[in-house]
Amino acid sequence: MSSAPTPIGVFDSGVGGLSVLRALRLQLPAQPIIYLADQARVPYGPRPLEEVRRFSEAMARFLLEQGAGIIVVACNTASAAALQPLRKAFPHIPFVGMEPAVKPAAETTQTGVVGVLATPATFQGALYASVVERFAQGVTILQDTCPGLVNAIEDGQLQSAHTRAILEQALLPMLAHGIDTVVLGCTHYPFVIPLIQQITGPAVRVIDPAPAVARQVERVLLQHGQPAQTAAPVQPRILTTGDPTTLQAMLPALLGESLPVEGVTVPIA
Ligand code: DGL
Repeated sequence: MSSAPTPIGVFDSGVGGLSVLRALRLQLPAQPIIYLADQARVPYGPRPLEEVRRFSEAMARFLLEQGAGIIVVACNTASAAALQPLRKAFPHIPFVGMEPAVKPAAETTQTGVVGVLATPATFQGALYASVVERFAQGVTILQDTCPGLVNAIEDGQLQSAHTRAILEQALLPMLAHGIDTVVLGCTHYPFVIPLIQQITGPAVRVIDPAPAVARQVERVLLQHGQPAQTAAPVQPRILTTGDPTTLQAMLPALLGESLPVEGVTVPIA
């Protein structure tokens, strides 16, 4: 007799984690998913790590109250600020977080120069420092925080001149220094991969970590005795602390389909 599949709780400051949701649905089509966007407080990236940690704990608690049995922190910023504290605060819950994919980039770069795009908080966190320290020996890492890019993506500007200008400001100097790989260290950024690739040209490899994270979630579910899925595909629940109508209108562009969105309040302790 098999038990009901555990709902996966997924959260981000906003629409970014939908890039992870997309990969999760491909990997685990029949696993129920509850996605929570903290659009009342987006962006997280420029905030102090301590504040992001408080928001993240509230988001995780809310998802657990909704029935989630595993939490995916689909946000590099929240992972940098809160992954360890979350594991401590909820010791019986498995957490899967994000870290910039410096390792695969360092392993495959031919020029030895890699660009990383992430938020200021992600670059400040110990997680990023440890990834660079462990995996990027002998590789030149160029970093950029792409100011304004998260807000532009939250506004649905996936192809605008404004978004292109932000990306050019980050990428053109990196290209001049010989990057052949770009690591997307923020879950919002996969939604502008077409624009990034227009700027870099097709020879530069752009790494979106979402498929690897989805495979990791499947491994964790299996470790916890969850079926890898036999049932029919299920529709995720999408929740936002912001305006549900606005998010609902954006979903076709972000996910390629329309889904209902529920507005919720997540109080911060
Ligand atoms: N999507 C997020 C990340 O991966 C956070 C962006 C933000 O809110 O600044 O870092």
